[in-house]
Amino acid sequence: MMREDIPSPVLSLHAVVVPLPAQGHVNPLLHFADLLRERGFFITFVNTEWSEKRMLQSSKQFSHRSSFRFLSFSDGLPPEHGRTDQLGELMAALAKCGPVVEELLRRDHGSCSGVPPVTCIVTDSAMSCTLSVAANLGVPRVVFWSICAAASIAQIYANVLLSQGHIPVQVSEAKRPEKLISGLPWNIPDLWPTDLMSFYREQNESDVIFKALLYESHQSNEADYTLVNTFEELEGRDAISALSTNGCPALAVGPVFLPKVLQGEESKLGSMWGENESCLEWLDKQRTGSVLYVSFGSLALKSQQQLDDIALGLEGSGHPFLWVLRSDIAQGHTAVLPEGFQKRTTDRAFIASWTPQLKVLEHESVGGFLTHSGWNSTLESISMGVPLLGWPCLADQFLNCRFAKEIWKVGLDFKDVDVDENRLVTREEVESAVRDLMQNELLRKRAFELKEAAIKAVMPGGSSFTNITAFIQDMLEKAK
Ligand code: UDX
Repeated sequence: MMREDIPSPVLSLHAVVVPLPAQGHVNPLLHFADLLRERGFFITFVNTEWSEKRMLQSSKQFSHRSSFRFLSFSDGLPPEHGRTDQLGELMAALAKCGPVVEELLRRDHGSCSGVPPVTCIVTDSAMSCTLSVAANLGVPRVVFWSICAAASIAQIYANVLLSQGHIPVQVSEAKRPEKLISGLPWNIPDLWPTDLMSFYREQNESDVIFKALLYESHQSNEADYTLVNTFEELEGRDAISALSTNGCPALAVGPVFLPKVLQGEESKLGSMWGENESCLEWLDKQRTGSVLYVSFGSLALKSQQQLDDIALGLEGSGHPFLWVLRSDIAQGHTAVLPEGFQKRTTDRAFIASWTPQLKVLEHESVGGFLTHSGWNSTLESISMGVPLLGWPCLADQFLNCRFAKEIWKVGLDFKDVDVDENRLVTREEVESAVRDLMQNELLRKRAFELKEAAIKAVMPGGSSFTNITAFIQDMLEKAK
C-alpha cells in the first residue's frame, strides 16, 4: 500500500500544537494543525492569552469544528507589555513557561471527558520550553520550523557558528564581512554571515535574543521529529535532511496554507489585525498582473522619512499598488502620508492597515510583491506565482531575500539593505526597482514554475503530502 493511500486513523490521535505568539508563527502552525485535523487528529491549540485575544476571528471560525479547540496560558508579562516589539523580553518570559503549559495540560486532561489522550506535542522551534512537557508526558517531541530549511539549519548550528567565530557577525560601515561560511555540515549553498539571523549581528553573548537563540539551537537537538514549512522541490531533500538531529526524521510539509487555498476554503486564520476585505473588490477592478502588493509583515518598522520615500517611489513608478500600512509601522506610531499623496494616487492606490494576504496574492490582478521577505510572505508569494522585490528588515528575512533572488531566481532586491538595514532607500530606487519587477517576464515565468511545483507538492502523491502521511503513520505506530 502506498503511504498516501493509508486509511484515516482508527485510533484517536491528539496533537497539542504550540506556536510562538507572533503572527508569522501562529499562521503556519494553525494551518498545519488544521491539516492534521482533516486527517483524523484531535487538536488542542495552545496559545498565550495575549495571542489568543489578538486572533480576532479564529476562535469563531474554528468553533464549529468539534475536534479543534484552543487553550491558553499566561506568559507572565504585564498586560501593557508590547510583546512582539520587545522580542527579547517575550522570549525570555516564554522560556520559563514549560511548567505552566504542563500544568495546563494535566489539569485539562483530568477535567475533560471525550478528549483523547495526547499523542504528540508539535511545538514551534522557538518554543522549545515545551519539549520538556512532551518528555514528561511521555509523548513524541515534534519541532515545527516556521522558517525555511536553510535558515533553520543556520539556527540549529548556532553553537558551531559561535565556536568557529562566525557569530557575532561584525557588520561595520555598511560593509559586508567578506568571507562566505562554508564547510559546515550543511547541504545548502554557502552563506554570507549577513544571511544569518539578524539577532547574531554585532551582539554580544549576553544579549537576550542572542542567548535565547543559542539555547533554542541546543534544545532543538532534543526533537524526536522535525517538520519544516517548505517543500523539497524548492530547497532540496538534502537540505531538509540536514535538519535531522540525532537521527530523528526531518520532513518538509509545506506550504501548509496551500491545501486550503486550493480547496477554495476561507483562509483567514489567526489574523492579529482586522482585515480590510474591500481591497479585494478594488483588485477586481484592476488589470491582470498590473498591481504591486506592498507589505512589510507583522514586525518590521520603518522611519517616517523612509515611509515618505516609499510613498513617493510608489507614486513615481506609475503602477497601481495595494499597500499595507500597519497601524504601528512608523516605529510604533501611525504613519503620515506625504501631502497630497492620497489625492494624487486616488485612482490607482489602495491603502489598508491589514489585508487577507493569501487572497490578495492569489488575485489575478497582482503582478508583484514588495516585501520584507518574511518566510510566510515569501512562501505565499512563490506558491501563488508572484515575483518578489525583497527589502529585508530583521531575523531570517535577509537569507530569504538572498535565496529568492540568487538561488530560486524569483526576485529582486535593493542594494546593500542586507548589510545596513537602516540605510535609507531613496524614492528613485523604489520607483526603478518597482518598474524592473513589474516588467520582468523571466521572474514571472520562474514564479509560475515554482507555483506549479508547490501545488504538486501538496497534492496527493506529492512530496509534502506524502511526508505528512508518513508523519501520521509514525504517530499512529507510536500511539499503539
Ligand atoms: C517574522 C519573520 O520575518 C519570518 O520570517 C518568520 O518566519 C516569522 O516572523 P512576519 O513579519 O510576521 O514574520 O512576516 P511573515 O513571515 O511574512 O508572516 C506574516 C503573515 O501575516 C503572513 O502569513 C501573511 O499572509 C500575513 N499577513 C501579512 C496578512 O494576513 N495580512 C497582511 O496585511 C500582512
